[in-house]
Amino acid sequence: MNAQTHRIREKLDRREALATPRSRALGQILLCEGCCCGRTDRGFKPVPCDWIEQQWKEEKLNRTVELTISGCLGPCDLANVACVISPQGIQWFGGLQEQWQYGLLLDWAKASRDAGVLLELPAELGRHRFERFAVSEPREQSVCVQSLTPGHREYGNTLCSESGKTKSPMR
Ligand code: FES
Repeated sequence: MNAQTHRIREKLDRREALATPRSRALGQILLCEGCCCGRTDRGFKPVPCDWIEQQWKEEKLNRTVELTISGCLGPCDLANVACVISPQGIQWFGGLQEQWQYGLLLDWAKASRDAGVLLELPAELGRHRFERFAVSEPREQSVCVQSLTPGHREYGNTLCSESGKTKSPMR
């Protein structure tokens, strides 16, 4: 066990909250360069990783928005993929095929650094946004559809009294 692992284990044993100086960053960008994204040998457009990493370093942007070049993020069918993580949530972008699109992310990170807050992401990237995950639906039985009679509610096809006893739907 190395010193870092030992330190974390001690904190966990003492039930202390974990914290990292890296959490001072306002957000993080993940640029995918996995089995599809950036794989020019497979016909995908390049991801300008070297260029953007150099820009990020020169501008010291990691203090504001951390840049991570990652392996496959999952939605390969929308290569090239990027996502932006912040306390406000995660935004996914797909079909990034031009260097200027990465330039927009760079400009946004610089403007956010200068403003000291994460600004709105560039509108030009809006059409590249997608929802990564299915929205989970509550199970039918747990959805209160409507109140029918005093003291009873309908859960899907099951009528429940508020005391918890079930009855057949009154139709
Ligand atoms: S390689 Fe980028 S999402 Fe899979």
